[in-house]
Formats: sequence, C-alpha cells, structure tokens
Amino acid sequence: MIKPVAYRRKMEGKSNAHLITFDDGRDYVVKYFRPGFEKTLPNEWISYCLGRYLGLPIPVAKIVKIPQEFSSQIPDLPPLKDDSYQFASLFIPNCLDGHQVTDVESITNPSTLASIILFDYWLGNTDRTRKNILLEEKGADSYQLWTIDHAEVFSTYNWEMPDLDSLPERVMKSAAHQLMARFIRNEEDFHASLEIIQTIPILLIEEIVALIPDDWNVTAEERKGIVTVLLRRRDKILPKLMGSFLKKVYRPLHQKNDNS
Ligand SMILES: Nc1ncnc2c1ncn2[C@@H]1O[C@H](COP(=O)(O)OP(=O)(O)OP(=O)(O)O)[C@@H](O)[C@H]1O
Ligand SMILES: [Mg+2]
Repeated sequence: MIKPVAYRRKMEGKSNAHLITFDDGRDYVVKYFRPGFEKTLPNEWISYCLGRYLGLPIPVAKIVKIPQEFSSQIPDLPPLKDDSYQFASLFIPNCLDGHQVTDVESITNPSTLASIILFDYWLGNTDRTRKNILLEEKGADSYQLWTIDHAEVFSTYNWEMPDLDSLPERVMKSAAHQLMARFIRNEEDFHASLEIIQTIPILLIEEIVALIPDDWNVTAEERKGIVTVLLRRRDKILPKLMGSFLKKVYRPLHQKNDNS
C-alpha cells in the first residue's frame, strides 16, 4: 500500500480534501472520513470501482492508510483515533473545471460520455455539477473530460437505509450532462452502455461492497441495501430514465444542432 510522504495543501470544497504526495512519487487528492459526511468515502469507493469497470474517465483511486502522526500535521482535520483508511484519487494536474471553461469545441474522449450519464442515473448521483467534471486541455478549445467527486451518489453524502428507496427517478437538471450530451455522436452509445451496466456480474458488485473498510461504519444491512438497489435500478429504473433523458435532453439538443 502506498504511504504518504508530504502534505501539500487543502483543496477547495466541502469534502475536506487534501493534496498529499505518496511514496510512489505521485500526488493524490485524499478525502478524509468526516462526521456528518459518513457516506462520502464508501460512495467514492463504490463509484470508483463501478466507474472503472464501465470505462469512465475517472482518475485512478486507492484506499490508503494514513498514519495518525502524519494526519496530525494537517490543518483543519478533526483528531482521528488511529491509523485510518481514507480515499485517495490521483491528482490530475493542469485541469479546469466545467465552470472555468466556456468554450468547449471538442472533447477527446467522447465515447465515454454516455456511460457517465447512465452511471449518474444508475447510482442516483445528485451532484454532477460542472465543478465535478475536470477538463484537461489537449489542444485549442479541445479537452479530455474527467469525472470526479462521487460523494453524493445514492442521493447524498450521509444517506441512510430509507434514502436508498427514494433515489431520483426523474431526469435531473445538470449543466454537465447537457455539455456531455452535445458531444455524444450516436444514441447507440447509450444502449451499449446500458447493456454493460446490466451485465456486470452480481458477484463483482458484492465484492466491491465487501471491500469497504470496516472503519467506515457501513452496516451489513446497508451493504446489502447497496447491492439490492443497484440491481433493481439497473433492471427496472435505468432503462426508463435513459428513455426520458434521450427524449428530454439528448434529442432536443441534437435536433437543434442539425437544423442550425
Ligand atoms: N483527481 C483529481 N485531480 C485534480 N483535482 C481534483 C481531483 N479530485 C478532486 N479535485 C479537486 O479537489 C477539490 C475537491 O474535490 P471534490 O469535488 O471531489 O470535493 P468537494 O469538496 O466535494 O467539492 P464540492 O465543493 O463540489 O462538493 C475540487 O476543487 C476538485 O476540482
Ligand atoms: Mg466537488
């Protein structure tokens, strides 16, 4: 397991994320377990694993163990009991977020975009704002898109069992989805992505959930609840939501473009 070697700085935002260099020579954005935000780290972990399976452009991530003596040097961090597990996401340098870029002429990884949108609907990610995509400049007005910040899948960073039964079942307002939808060339991308989501082995989903560290306090009932809701939504809810998204967001955008 990689070990932290140098503290860099606190990142912007409400998640209490910190930039830390590890002994593999790379910088990671580390999110710390935090009272009031109990599901942030489990949500990030599950999203990372499922996102990678689906080929989402999500930065490499790891569960890391940070010694108490290292964490004690970090400003604004509540005291931690012991060496503890945290979530680390490889820092992608030289990125802008979706708010900072007004002119996106092209995206270099368009084939991943439909999967990002379906992923958000599948997991009930209520926080795909323009701040939660990163744009890495690859040429004049041309960017590679990255997805970050999955703290609010399953509707919120502190969900409890009943919340899993009331995840969004409607088209969500998301400027980031609108932006992505502009660059998806073919509706077929959505259908292909749905098929991949629906065929992820159940055992794999169970394994991902089982790997959540015990000190993140996700109960056995909650772990089971996560698997159940993912299976139910991918079969019963996601196909309908995909249809609504195509109708309400994707097609109007492309019809407008075709006429212009
Ligand atoms: N892998 C990464 N590479 C580069 N920057 C990152 C990465 N992950 C997160 N960041 C940046 O770190 C900050 C905090 O990240 P993130 O959005 O995950 O957490 P947050 O605190 O929940 O933010 P928000 O205010 O959107 O809720 C943001 O400024 C984000 O752009
Ligand atoms: Mg964010």
